[in-house]
Amino acid sequence: MTPLGEKIALLIAGNGPITVADYMALALGDPEHGYYMAREPFGRAGDFVTAPEISQIFGELIGLWAVAAFEAMGAPPRLALVELGPGRGTLMADLLRAARVRPAFLAAAEVHLVESSPRLRDVQMATLGAGAATWHDTVATLPTGPSIVVANEFFDALPVRQYVRTEAGWAERMVGLDETGNLAFGLRPLAGPPSSPLPAQEKGRPAGSGAGQDTVLEVSPASTAVMATLAERLAAAGGALLAIDYGYEGPAFGDTLQAVAGHRYADPLAEPGAADLTAHVDFAALARAAEAAGARPRPLLGQGDFLARLGIAARAARLAAGKDAATQDAIAAAVNRLVAPAAMGRLFKVLAVSHSGLALPAFDDDA
Ligand SMILES: C[S@@+](CC[C@H](N)C(=O)[O-])C[C@H]1O[C@@H](n2cnc3c(N)ncnc32)[C@H](O)[C@@H]1O
Repeated sequence: MTPLGEKIALLIAGNGPITVADYMALALGDPEHGYYMAREPFGRAGDFVTAPEISQIFGELIGLWAVAAFEAMGAPPRLALVELGPGRGTLMADLLRAARVRPAFLAAAEVHLVESSPRLRDVQMATLGAGAATWHDTVATLPTGPSIVVANEFFDALPVRQYVRTEAGWAERMVGLDETGNLAFGLRPLAGPPSSPLPAQEKGRPAGSGAGQDTVLEVSPASTAVMATLAERLAAAGGALLAIDYGYEGPAFGDTLQAVAGHRYADPLAEPGAADLTAHVDFAALARAAEAAGARPRPLLGQGDFLARLGIAARAARLAAGKDAATQDAIAAAVNRLVAPAAMGRLFKVLAVSHSGLALPAFDDDA
Protein backbone atom coordinates (compact mmCIF):
# COMPACT_ATOMS: atom_id res chain seq x y z
CA MET A 1 0.00 0.00 0.00
CA THR A 2 1.21 3.56 -0.66
CA PRO A 3 1.87 5.87 2.34
CA LEU A 4 -1.36 7.69 1.47
CA GLY A 5 -3.22 4.35 1.25
CA GLU A 6 -2.06 3.61 4.80
CA LYS A 7 -3.13 7.05 5.98
CA ILE A 8 -6.60 6.62 4.43
CA ALA A 9 -6.93 3.09 5.84
CA LEU A 10 -6.16 4.42 9.34
CA LEU A 11 -8.75 7.16 8.89
CA ILE A 12 -11.38 4.63 7.82
CA ALA A 13 -10.45 2.22 10.65
CA GLY A 14 -11.05 5.08 13.10
CA ASN A 15 -14.07 6.85 11.63
CA GLY A 16 -15.73 4.40 9.23
CA PRO A 17 -16.07 4.34 5.42
CA ILE A 18 -15.73 7.56 3.42
CA THR A 19 -17.59 8.67 0.28
CA VAL A 20 -15.96 8.29 -3.14
CA ALA A 21 -15.79 12.11 -3.24
CA ASP A 22 -13.86 12.25 0.02
CA TYR A 23 -11.56 9.49 -1.22
CA MET A 24 -10.90 11.37 -4.48
CA ALA A 25 -10.21 14.61 -2.61
CA LEU A 26 -7.67 12.85 -0.37
CA ALA A 27 -6.04 10.88 -3.20
CA LEU A 28 -5.49 14.05 -5.25
CA GLY A 29 -5.17 16.75 -2.62
CA ASP A 30 -3.76 15.33 0.64
CA PRO A 31 -1.22 18.05 1.56
CA GLU A 32 1.56 15.52 2.14
CA HIS A 33 0.99 12.63 -0.27
CA GLY A 34 -1.81 13.78 -2.64
CA TYR A 35 -1.24 13.02 -6.31
CA TYR A 36 -0.98 16.66 -7.43
CA MET A 37 1.08 17.62 -4.38
CA ALA A 38 3.85 15.08 -4.74
CA ARG A 39 4.04 13.73 -8.25
CA GLU A 40 5.05 15.01 -11.71
CA PRO A 41 2.05 13.88 -13.72
CA PHE A 42 2.70 15.48 -17.12
CA GLY A 43 4.49 14.28 -20.23
CA ARG A 44 5.94 11.07 -21.54
CA ALA A 45 7.79 10.32 -18.30
CA GLY A 46 4.68 11.16 -16.26
CA ASP A 47 1.18 9.70 -16.30
CA PHE A 48 -0.68 11.56 -19.05
CA VAL A 49 -0.35 14.26 -21.71
CA THR A 50 -2.81 17.16 -21.90
CA ALA A 51 -3.75 19.21 -24.97
CA PRO A 52 -1.50 22.22 -24.23
CA GLU A 53 1.41 19.82 -23.81
CA ILE A 54 0.65 18.20 -27.19
CA SER A 55 0.92 21.41 -29.21
CA GLN A 56 1.51 25.12 -28.61
CA ILE A 57 -1.31 25.73 -31.11
CA PHE A 58 -3.90 24.70 -28.51
CA GLY A 59 -3.04 27.53 -26.10
CA GLU A 60 -2.44 29.98 -28.93
CA LEU A 61 -5.92 29.45 -30.37
CA ILE A 62 -7.44 29.86 -26.92
CA GLY A 63 -5.46 33.09 -26.68
CA LEU A 64 -7.00 34.35 -29.93
CA TRP A 65 -10.43 33.27 -28.65
CA ALA A 66 -9.81 35.25 -25.44
CA VAL A 67 -8.74 38.34 -27.40
CA ALA A 68 -11.91 38.15 -29.52
CA ALA A 69 -14.07 37.72 -26.40
CA PHE A 70 -12.29 40.73 -24.83
CA GLU A 71 -13.11 42.81 -27.93
CA ALA A 72 -16.73 41.65 -27.78
CA MET A 73 -16.80 42.78 -24.13
CA GLY A 74 -15.88 46.31 -25.31
CA ALA A 75 -12.17 46.00 -24.38
CA PRO A 76 -12.53 46.82 -20.65
CA PRO A 77 -9.49 48.62 -19.14
CA ARG A 78 -9.10 45.87 -16.50
CA LEU A 79 -9.67 42.18 -17.07
CA ALA A 80 -9.15 39.22 -14.73
CA LEU A 81 -7.62 36.53 -16.95
CA VAL A 82 -8.22 33.38 -14.92
CA GLU A 83 -7.03 29.82 -15.40
CA LEU A 84 -8.30 26.96 -13.24
CA GLY A 85 -5.80 24.13 -12.67
CA PRO A 86 -2.97 25.46 -14.89
CA GLY A 87 -0.71 22.40 -14.64
CA ARG A 88 2.73 23.46 -15.88
CA GLY A 89 1.50 26.88 -17.02
CA THR A 90 1.92 25.94 -20.68
CA LEU A 91 -1.56 26.93 -21.84
CA MET A 92 -1.31 30.36 -20.18
CA ALA A 93 2.16 30.97 -21.64
CA ASP A 94 0.96 30.10 -25.17
CA LEU A 95 -2.24 32.14 -24.69
CA LEU A 96 -0.30 35.25 -23.61
CA ARG A 97 2.16 34.90 -26.50
CA ALA A 98 -0.67 34.72 -29.06
CA ALA A 99 -2.45 37.65 -27.37
CA ARG A 100 0.45 39.94 -28.26
CA VAL A 101 -1.51 40.67 -31.45
CA ARG A 102 -3.70 42.91 -29.28
CA PRO A 103 -1.56 45.01 -26.88
CA ALA A 104 -4.69 46.44 -25.23
CA PHE A 105 -5.60 42.91 -24.10
CA LEU A 106 -2.22 42.40 -22.48
CA ALA A 107 -2.35 45.85 -20.87
CA ALA A 108 -5.76 45.09 -19.35
CA ALA A 109 -5.19 41.47 -18.34
CA GLU A 110 -4.23 40.54 -14.79
CA VAL A 111 -3.48 36.83 -14.61
CA HIS A 112 -5.05 34.85 -11.76
CA LEU A 113 -4.32 31.15 -11.36
CA VAL A 114 -6.42 28.81 -9.21
CA GLU A 115 -4.06 26.03 -8.18
CA SER A 116 -4.16 23.83 -5.09
CA SER A 117 -0.70 22.28 -5.46
CA PRO A 118 2.25 24.32 -4.08
CA ARG A 119 4.61 22.19 -6.19
CA LEU A 120 2.76 23.01 -9.41
CA ARG A 121 2.55 26.69 -8.42
CA ASP A 122 6.36 26.72 -8.44
CA VAL A 123 6.36 25.12 -11.90
CA GLN A 124 3.83 27.70 -13.14
CA MET A 125 5.94 30.51 -11.68
CA ALA A 126 9.01 29.18 -13.48
CA THR A 127 7.04 29.06 -16.76
CA LEU A 128 5.38 32.47 -16.50
CA GLY A 129 7.71 34.51 -14.27
CA ALA A 130 7.43 35.33 -10.56
CA GLY A 131 5.41 38.54 -10.86
CA ALA A 132 3.29 37.36 -13.77
CA ALA A 133 0.30 36.05 -11.84
CA THR A 134 -1.58 35.94 -8.57
CA TRP A 135 -2.31 32.48 -7.17
CA HIS A 136 -5.51 31.36 -5.44
CA ASP A 137 -6.46 28.20 -3.55
CA THR A 138 -10.06 28.40 -4.71
CA VAL A 139 -12.30 30.52 -6.94
CA ALA A 140 -13.71 32.26 -3.84
CA THR A 141 -10.82 34.76 -3.67
CA LEU A 142 -10.78 35.75 -7.36
CA PRO A 143 -11.25 39.49 -7.90
CA THR A 144 -14.59 40.87 -9.01
CA GLY A 145 -14.89 42.69 -12.34
CA PRO A 146 -14.88 41.57 -15.98
CA SER A 147 -13.24 38.15 -16.38
CA ILE A 148 -12.18 35.59 -18.94
CA VAL A 149 -11.80 32.13 -17.41
CA VAL A 150 -10.26 29.05 -19.00
CA ALA A 151 -10.12 25.53 -17.57
CA ASN A 152 -8.57 22.60 -19.39
CA GLU A 153 -8.85 19.22 -17.66
CA PHE A 154 -9.73 20.90 -14.36
CA PHE A 155 -13.31 19.80 -13.71
CA ASP A 156 -12.45 16.11 -14.24
CA ALA A 157 -10.18 16.34 -11.18
CA LEU A 158 -12.98 17.52 -8.89
CA PRO A 159 -14.54 14.86 -6.65
CA VAL A 160 -17.70 12.96 -7.61
CA ARG A 161 -20.18 11.14 -5.39
CA GLN A 162 -21.44 7.83 -6.75
CA TYR A 163 -24.91 6.38 -6.18
CA VAL A 164 -25.78 2.80 -7.02
CA ARG A 165 -29.21 1.34 -7.71
CA THR A 166 -29.53 -1.88 -5.69
CA GLU A 167 -32.36 -4.37 -5.29
CA ALA A 168 -33.29 -2.63 -2.05
CA GLY A 169 -33.16 0.94 -3.49
CA TRP A 170 -30.47 3.56 -3.93
CA ALA A 171 -27.20 3.39 -2.00
CA GLU A 172 -24.08 5.56 -1.93
CA ARG A 173 -20.82 3.93 -2.96
CA MET A 174 -18.29 4.20 -0.15
CA VAL A 175 -14.64 3.36 0.36
CA GLY A 176 -14.03 1.12 3.37
CA LEU A 177 -11.73 -1.75 4.30
CA ASP A 178 -11.99 -5.43 3.37
CA GLU A 179 -11.22 -8.27 5.77
CA THR A 180 -7.48 -8.02 4.97
CA GLY A 181 -7.37 -4.30 5.74
CA ASN A 182 -7.13 -3.18 2.10
CA LEU A 183 -9.25 -0.35 0.67
CA ALA A 184 -12.47 -1.70 -0.85
CA PHE A 185 -15.73 -0.34 -2.25
CA GLY A 186 -18.93 -0.84 -0.30
CA LEU A 187 -22.45 0.59 -0.20
CA ARG A 188 -24.37 2.72 2.29
CA PRO A 189 -28.15 2.53 1.77
CA LEU A 190 -29.98 5.83 1.19
CA ALA A 191 -33.45 6.64 2.47
CA GLY A 192 -34.57 7.74 -1.03
CA PRO A 193 -33.23 8.49 -4.53
CA PRO A 194 -30.24 10.86 -4.84
CA SER A 195 -31.27 14.50 -4.83
CA SER A 196 -30.05 15.23 -8.35
CA PRO A 197 -31.79 14.98 -11.72
CA LEU A 198 -31.96 11.38 -12.82
CA PRO A 199 -31.05 10.45 -16.40
CA ALA A 200 -33.42 10.71 -19.33
CA GLN A 201 -34.58 7.13 -19.25
CA GLU A 202 -36.00 7.83 -15.83
CA LYS A 203 -38.36 10.54 -17.08
CA GLY A 204 -42.06 9.88 -16.61
CA ARG A 205 -41.42 7.14 -14.06
CA PRO A 206 -41.18 7.31 -10.31
CA ALA A 207 -37.69 8.65 -9.58
CA GLY A 208 -35.09 5.95 -9.72
CA SER A 209 -37.41 3.10 -10.68
CA GLY A 210 -36.15 2.79 -14.26
CA ALA A 211 -32.50 2.34 -13.40
CA GLY A 212 -31.33 -1.24 -13.76
CA GLN A 213 -29.69 -2.92 -10.84
CA ASP A 214 -26.07 -1.88 -10.18
CA THR A 215 -26.55 1.25 -12.29
CA VAL A 216 -24.21 4.01 -11.11
CA LEU A 217 -25.13 7.70 -11.04
CA GLU A 218 -22.33 10.24 -10.53
CA VAL A 219 -22.74 13.80 -9.31
CA SER A 220 -20.07 16.38 -8.62
CA PRO A 221 -21.29 19.00 -6.13
CA ALA A 222 -17.76 20.48 -6.06
CA SER A 223 -17.88 21.11 -9.83
CA THR A 224 -21.31 22.70 -9.85
CA ALA A 225 -20.34 24.91 -6.88
CA VAL A 226 -17.26 26.21 -8.75
CA MET A 227 -19.34 26.85 -11.87
CA ALA A 228 -22.08 28.61 -9.87
CA THR A 229 -19.55 30.96 -8.25
CA LEU A 230 -17.92 31.86 -11.57
CA ALA A 231 -21.18 32.17 -13.49
CA GLU A 232 -22.57 34.55 -10.88
CA ARG A 233 -19.49 36.74 -11.36
CA LEU A 234 -19.77 36.64 -15.16
CA ALA A 235 -23.46 37.53 -14.99
CA ALA A 236 -22.77 40.46 -12.62
CA ALA A 237 -19.59 41.96 -14.10
CA GLY A 238 -19.31 40.55 -17.63
CA GLY A 239 -17.05 38.04 -19.26
CA ALA A 240 -16.79 34.50 -20.51
CA LEU A 241 -15.61 31.05 -19.48
CA LEU A 242 -14.33 28.05 -21.42
CA ALA A 243 -14.32 24.60 -19.82
CA ILE A 244 -12.59 21.89 -21.86
CA ASP A 245 -12.63 18.33 -20.65
CA TYR A 246 -13.64 14.80 -21.44
CA GLY A 247 -17.17 14.16 -20.47
CA TYR A 248 -20.77 13.75 -21.51
CA GLU A 249 -23.91 15.75 -21.91
CA GLY A 250 -25.64 14.21 -18.90
CA PRO A 251 -27.44 13.26 -16.92
CA ALA A 252 -26.40 9.73 -17.75
CA PHE A 253 -25.71 6.57 -15.84
CA GLY A 254 -22.28 4.99 -15.58
CA ASP A 255 -19.19 4.63 -13.44
CA THR A 256 -16.46 6.84 -14.95
CA LEU A 257 -14.09 6.99 -11.98
CA GLN A 258 -10.73 6.04 -13.37
CA ALA A 259 -7.12 5.91 -12.29
CA VAL A 260 -4.18 6.41 -14.65
CA ALA A 261 -0.51 5.88 -13.86
CA GLY A 262 2.32 5.73 -16.38
CA HIS A 263 -0.18 6.19 -19.28
CA ARG A 264 -2.09 3.02 -18.19
CA TYR A 265 -5.40 2.50 -16.46
CA ALA A 266 -5.01 1.35 -12.87
CA ASP A 267 -7.24 0.20 -10.01
CA PRO A 268 -8.59 3.44 -8.41
CA LEU A 269 -8.08 2.05 -4.89
CA ALA A 270 -4.70 0.34 -5.38
CA GLU A 271 -2.27 3.25 -5.18
CA PRO A 272 -3.80 6.48 -3.87
CA GLY A 273 -1.36 9.35 -4.36
CA ALA A 274 0.59 7.50 -7.06
CA ALA A 275 -2.12 7.43 -9.76
CA ASP A 276 -4.25 10.23 -11.22
CA LEU A 277 -7.94 9.91 -10.41
CA THR A 278 -10.60 11.48 -12.61
CA ALA A 279 -14.26 11.21 -13.48
CA HIS A 280 -15.91 12.28 -16.73
CA VAL A 281 -17.47 15.72 -16.58
CA ASP A 282 -21.26 16.06 -16.64
CA PHE A 283 -21.45 19.13 -18.86
CA ALA A 284 -25.22 19.37 -18.62
CA ALA A 285 -24.93 19.72 -14.83
CA LEU A 286 -22.32 22.48 -15.30
CA ALA A 287 -24.53 24.26 -17.84
CA ARG A 288 -27.53 24.04 -15.48
CA ALA A 289 -25.45 25.49 -12.63
CA ALA A 290 -24.30 28.36 -14.88
CA GLU A 291 -27.83 29.13 -16.02
CA ALA A 292 -29.22 29.01 -12.49
CA ALA A 293 -26.56 31.58 -11.52
CA GLY A 294 -27.73 33.95 -14.27
CA ALA A 295 -25.14 33.29 -17.00
CA ARG A 296 -25.66 31.89 -20.50
CA PRO A 297 -24.23 28.46 -21.36
CA ARG A 298 -23.83 27.61 -25.08
CA PRO A 299 -24.50 24.23 -26.66
CA LEU A 300 -21.44 21.99 -26.28
CA LEU A 301 -18.87 21.77 -29.05
CA GLY A 302 -16.49 18.87 -29.62
CA GLN A 303 -12.85 19.93 -29.18
CA GLY A 304 -12.24 19.11 -32.86
CA ASP A 305 -15.04 21.40 -34.07
CA PHE A 306 -14.03 24.14 -31.64
CA LEU A 307 -10.41 24.16 -32.83
CA ALA A 308 -11.49 23.95 -36.48
CA ARG A 309 -13.69 27.02 -36.04
CA LEU A 310 -10.73 28.87 -34.51
CA GLY A 311 -8.63 28.06 -37.59
CA ILE A 312 -6.33 25.27 -36.42
CA ALA A 313 -5.60 24.15 -40.00
CA ALA A 314 -4.37 27.59 -41.08
CA ARG A 315 -2.36 28.07 -37.86
CA ALA A 316 -0.72 24.64 -38.28
CA ALA A 317 0.15 25.41 -41.91
CA ARG A 318 1.79 28.68 -40.85
CA LEU A 319 3.75 26.97 -38.07
CA ALA A 320 4.93 24.21 -40.43
CA ALA A 321 5.93 26.52 -43.28
CA GLY A 322 9.65 26.36 -44.01
CA LYS A 323 10.30 23.63 -41.41
CA ASP A 324 12.00 20.31 -42.12
CA ALA A 325 9.92 17.25 -42.96
CA ALA A 326 10.22 15.69 -39.47
CA THR A 327 8.97 18.89 -37.79
CA GLN A 328 6.12 19.18 -40.30
CA ASP A 329 5.12 15.58 -39.58
CA ALA A 330 5.23 16.22 -35.82
CA ILE A 331 2.98 19.29 -36.18
CA ALA A 332 0.51 17.34 -38.35
CA ALA A 333 0.47 14.43 -35.87
CA ALA A 334 -0.14 16.77 -32.92
CA VAL A 335 -2.99 18.54 -34.72
CA ASN A 336 -4.51 15.22 -35.67
CA ARG A 337 -4.38 14.08 -32.04
CA LEU A 338 -6.19 17.24 -30.91
CA VAL A 339 -8.95 17.21 -33.54
CA ALA A 340 -9.49 13.69 -34.92
CA PRO A 341 -12.79 12.17 -33.76
CA ALA A 342 -11.02 8.92 -32.89
CA ALA A 343 -8.43 10.81 -30.78
CA MET A 344 -9.37 13.82 -28.62
CA GLY A 345 -11.64 15.64 -31.09
CA ARG A 346 -14.93 14.14 -29.98
CA LEU A 347 -14.31 12.76 -26.48
CA PHE A 348 -13.11 16.17 -25.34
CA LYS A 349 -15.80 18.82 -25.29
CA VAL A 350 -15.92 22.56 -24.85
CA LEU A 351 -18.53 24.37 -22.79
CA ALA A 352 -18.68 28.15 -23.12
CA VAL A 353 -20.53 30.34 -20.64
CA SER A 354 -20.85 34.12 -20.63
CA HIS A 355 -22.98 36.96 -19.42
CA SER A 356 -26.14 37.09 -21.47
CA GLY A 357 -25.32 39.92 -23.89
CA LEU A 358 -22.00 38.67 -25.20
CA ALA A 359 -21.43 37.17 -28.67
CA LEU A 360 -18.74 34.51 -28.37
CA PRO A 361 -16.26 33.53 -31.10
CA ALA A 362 -16.69 29.92 -32.28
CA PHE A 363 -20.07 29.66 -30.56
CA ASP A 364 -22.25 32.52 -31.84
CA ASP A 365 -22.82 33.35 -35.50
CA ASP A 366 -22.71 37.10 -34.84
CA ALA A 367 -19.32 37.04 -33.03
C1 LIG B 1 -5.03 17.38 -15.24
S1 LIG B 1 -4.19 18.75 -14.64
C2 LIG B 1 -4.49 19.87 -15.98
C3 LIG B 1 -3.39 20.85 -16.14
C4 LIG B 1 -3.50 21.85 -17.28
N1 LIG B 1 -4.76 22.55 -17.30
C5 LIG B 1 -3.24 21.20 -18.60
O1 LIG B 1 -4.14 21.14 -19.42
O2 LIG B 1 -2.10 20.75 -18.82
C6 LIG B 1 -5.23 19.37 -13.32
C7 LIG B 1 -4.75 20.67 -12.69
O3 LIG B 1 -5.75 21.10 -11.74
C8 LIG B 1 -5.12 21.29 -10.46
N2 LIG B 1 -6.14 20.94 -9.47
C9 LIG B 1 -6.69 19.72 -9.25
N3 LIG B 1 -7.64 19.80 -8.29
C10 LIG B 1 -7.70 21.11 -7.93
C11 LIG B 1 -8.50 21.84 -6.99
N4 LIG B 1 -9.41 21.23 -6.26
N5 LIG B 1 -8.30 23.16 -6.89
C12 LIG B 1 -7.36 23.80 -7.63
N6 LIG B 1 -6.58 23.16 -8.54
C13 LIG B 1 -6.73 21.83 -8.68
C14 LIG B 1 -3.94 20.36 -10.49
O4 LIG B 1 -2.98 20.64 -9.52
C15 LIG B 1 -3.46 20.58 -11.92
O5 LIG B 1 -2.78 21.80 -12.06
